[in-house]
Amino acid sequence: MSKLWHGRFEKETDGFADEWAASISFDKALYKEDIRGSIAHARMLAKQDIISGEDERLIVSGLEEILDDIDAGRIELTGDYEDVHMAVESILTERIGEAGKRLHTARSRNDQVATDARLWLKEEILRDIELLKDLRKALIKTAKEHTDTVMPGFTHLQHAQPVSLAFHLLAYQQMFARDADRLWDCYRRTDAMPLGSGALAGVTYATDREYLAGELQFAAVCPNAMDAVSDRDFAVEYIAACSIIMMHLSRFCEEIILWCSGEFGFAVADDAYSTGSSIMPQKKNPDMAELVRGKTGRVYGSLVSILTVMKGLPLAYNKDMQEDKVPLFDAAGTVRGSLVVFTAMFETLRFDADAMEAAAKKGYMNATDAADYLVCKGVPFREAHEIIGALVLSATKEGKAIEEFSLDELREHSDKFGEDIYDAIDIRACLDAKLSDGSTSGASVAAQIEAAEKSLKAFS
Ligand code: ARG
Repeated sequence: MSKLWHGRFEKETDGFADEWAASISFDKALYKEDIRGSIAHARMLAKQDIISGEDERLIVSGLEEILDDIDAGRIELTGDYEDVHMAVESILTERIGEAGKRLHTARSRNDQVATDARLWLKEEILRDIELLKDLRKALIKTAKEHTDTVMPGFTHLQHAQPVSLAFHLLAYQQMFARDADRLWDCYRRTDAMPLGSGALAGVTYATDREYLAGELQFAAVCPNAMDAVSDRDFAVEYIAACSIIMMHLSRFCEEIILWCSGEFGFAVADDAYSTGSSIMPQKKNPDMAELVRGKTGRVYGSLVSILTVMKGLPLAYNKDMQEDKVPLFDAAGTVRGSLVVFTAMFETLRFDADAMEAAAKKGYMNATDAADYLVCKGVPFREAHEIIGALVLSATKEGKAIEEFSLDELREHSDKFGEDIYDAIDIRACLDAKLSDGSTSGASVAAQIEAAEKSLKAFS
């Protein structure tokens, strides 16, 4: 197929090189944005008397028909075209003739592709924010049902201090709230329009970029043509935000995988989100959580890929930048799918409150509270730490919990112990004894739930 730029060439591009360099197989995902951008561009050209009203009508109706035809599968975007921009323009010119050849006035594929990508990404970011909102809602709902469920809090994956399940879930709620915030931030910077920058230096026509930005619902116009066509930082930033979302999801997945194991027994995954084994009849595997954890690697790969593509590129456009799309689309699709599957899997997860509480009673998780008890009786903290450490050591030797020692036995370690020690180190009392803001106490968790609900509303 003859190229729209073939004028200065004496022979055709090598067949294999041509196919190899084509981006249509993946950038066809931008056809809606490309057509939308072209319609706005044609309108602006006519408004500015750069093309005639008649040309504008032919171009706009021609593009609308092409959009319908692609939507309906009547046009297939194939490797015969170099990229989506060339495909749309070629088909338009085949259909409407002369007027189609005027569409590319005052525009370059360099500002066109950057505009298409930003239009596409803005929609994608809004979708992700909605999906994060669904997940946060599910977390808050489950947290409300489990304010009274006590579980072990871990450090180093060793029993540390008791917490409520609600508190644990609200920790993730905070992470996903920041993820949504990061995406909003990225949205703001993506929301500037490169169109009208031309190839790199601006155009010689009296265009109206403000009007164009209004038509395309961009909040601003990119203020420097060379920057507008050269940078893909908006895509890098988005994939970085995606990577952080995946990192958070992967940690949560890891915990769910542990919780669903026979050893923990804290949760049971729904059949709809589990799979069996081809050989071991008893198996019920948490595949969805494992796969979200695994796909995290893929999104990180996209981040490294786009950063490496952009590294060291001289201004302005370079063909290398065509390689931005695969990581961008792949990261977006992976995050979208992961959020959908993860939220559904989480919503159907059943927690075993008794198993959690039983586990919370093991592992001397009230040792810090026992030390704090002594501090209240006037013992300096370091000394109290030492005393309880020795107490735990003898408890481990005897296979007892701290509360299983008699008062006399406790007094062998410190004469500050009184009858009230038993209430002070009761597992639930340990939670509610926390006074600091943001703690696992019932009062703090209630306040956190209220704040989370408020921030969710403020986001919509
Ligand atoms: N397919 C190209 C890309 O995705 C479009 C821009 C081409 N511009 C150019 N000057 N060759 O980057």
